[in-house]
Amino acid sequence: MTVEAASPAPVDLDALDLSDRDWWAGPPSVRYAAFAALRRERPFAFFAEPELPGIPVGPGCWAVTRYADLDAISSQPALFCSGRGAVSIPDVPADLNEFYGSLISMDDPRHAKIRRIVSKAFTPRVLLDQVRAVVDDVLARARRTAEAQDGVIDVVTDIAAPIPLRVICDMMGVPEDARAGVLAQSTVILSGGDPELIEDENDPVSAFLLAGMELAGLMERLAAERLAHPQADLTTALVTTEVDGERLSSQEIASFFILLLIAGNETTRNAISQGVLALHEHPDQRARWAADPGLDRTAVEELVRWTSPVTWMRRTATRDGEVNGHRFRAGDKFLLLYAAANRDPAVFRDPEVLDLARDPNPHVGFGSKGPHFCLGAHLARRELAVTFRALFDQLPDLEVTGEPNRLRSSFVNGVKRLPARLGGVR
Ligand code: HEM
Repeated sequence: MTVEAASPAPVDLDALDLSDRDWWAGPPSVRYAAFAALRRERPFAFFAEPELPGIPVGPGCWAVTRYADLDAISSQPALFCSGRGAVSIPDVPADLNEFYGSLISMDDPRHAKIRRIVSKAFTPRVLLDQVRAVVDDVLARARRTAEAQDGVIDVVTDIAAPIPLRVICDMMGVPEDARAGVLAQSTVILSGGDPELIEDENDPVSAFLLAGMELAGLMERLAAERLAHPQADLTTALVTTEVDGERLSSQEIASFFILLLIAGNETTRNAISQGVLALHEHPDQRARWAADPGLDRTAVEELVRWTSPVTWMRRTATRDGEVNGHRFRAGDKFLLLYAAANRDPAVFRDPEVLDLARDPNPHVGFGSKGPHFCLGAHLARRELAVTFRALFDQLPDLEVTGEPNRLRSSFVNGVKRLPARLGGVR
C-alpha cells in the first residue's frame, strides 16, 4: 500500500466547512489538497450539516475519503442504506426524498425491481448510432454558431449541454418543444442552490419544488399520450410495466422520469465540459489522444476519474457497527466522497497525474460496488467517447479562451460556462 505523501500546502482541517458552496466553486487544487489531508489525517471526518430553510438541521455526517472505506460501505447496502436519503445530507421529508430520489434513494428489493424496468434500454449496443447522429448534428450547429459570432462559442451551452439533453430526451420520447424546459428544470434541481440559477438564494427548496412540479406535469402529459398510443421509448416502459402485479403509481412514474432526465443530463454535460477543460490544461495528453483512437476506452475512464462529475452520495447506517476500525451508531450518515477516493494513492499510482492511458483504472466516478452503480454508465461512456473523437475530427481548432464559471454545488462538479473559440472561423 502506498503511503500518501504530505500535501504541499498545509490544510486547516478544523476550519474546513464542507457546506460552504463557495469552497466547492473555488479552485480544484484547494479541494484536492483538503481531500488528501482528510484521507491522511481524518479518514472519517465528522461535519456539521448545512442549514436549509424549513428543514431541521440534522446531527452531522461522516465524510469518507479513503477508497477502501468507501468501497466497504458501498458494498454493504443492508448495513448502509440509501432509502433514508442518498442525494441530500439533511433528512428531508419522506415524500420529498422519494420524489427527488426515485430508485437512487430506494433499497432492495423494490429498488431492483424498479431498476429492471429500464435497464435493458441502457445496454451498450442499443446506443451507438443514436449517439453519433446527435453528436454530429450538435457539432455542426456549434460551428454555425461560431461562424455567426466571430468564432466565439461557449463549450457548455453549444456542445456539452445539448448532447446529453438530446440523447436522453430521444430515449424518453420527450417532444422537441419541451426540451428547453427540461434543461432549465434539471439545472435548477441540481443547482446546489447556486444563486445564479435559482430565483431566491435563501429559498432553494421552493425552487426545487417548482422545477419538480413542472417536470411532473410534463410526465403526466406524456404518460396519458403513451397509455393511449404506446411507443418504443422509456416513457412507455415506465407507464405500462407492472411490478409485483401492479403498475407504478403516477408519483413513482414522475419521480423515475425526473431521475432519468436529470441523471442523464447533468452528469454527462459536466463530464464533457470538465473534460474539454482538462484537455486544455494538459495539451500533451490532448495531442496524444487526438492522434490515437485506440486510447478512447482508457481516456474516457480517466476523464471520469479526473473530473468526478458526481462528487458524493450519502448512505445511512441501519444499525450500530464498525467499518475498517471506525465505530458508528444506527442512523449515522456517511458522505461517500467519490472525488476524494478517485485520487487515493493507495489505489492509483500518481493520482494527481492525468494519464489517458491509465489501465487498470478502478475509479468510482460511476459509484462503487453495490446495487446503485450508475445505470447510465454505458451510455455516458458512449457519449464521451463519441463526443471527444468527433471534437478531434470535426472541431480540431476548438480552443478554450477563458476561465470556467463553476457551479456552487458540493454534489455536482459543474461548470456553467466555458468560453472558447474555433480558431479557423472569423
Ligand atoms: C459521466 C456521467 C455520469 C456519472 C459520473 C454518473 C455517476 C453516477 C453515480 C456516482 C451514481 C450513484 C452510484 C451509487 O450510489 O453507488 C449514479 C447513479 C445513477 N445514474 Fe449515473 N452517472 C453518469 C451518467 C448517467 C447517465 C447518462 C444516466 C442516464 C439516465 C445515468 C443514470 C443514473 C441512474 C438512474 C442512477 C441510479 C441507479 C440506482 O440507484 O440504481 N447516469 N450515477
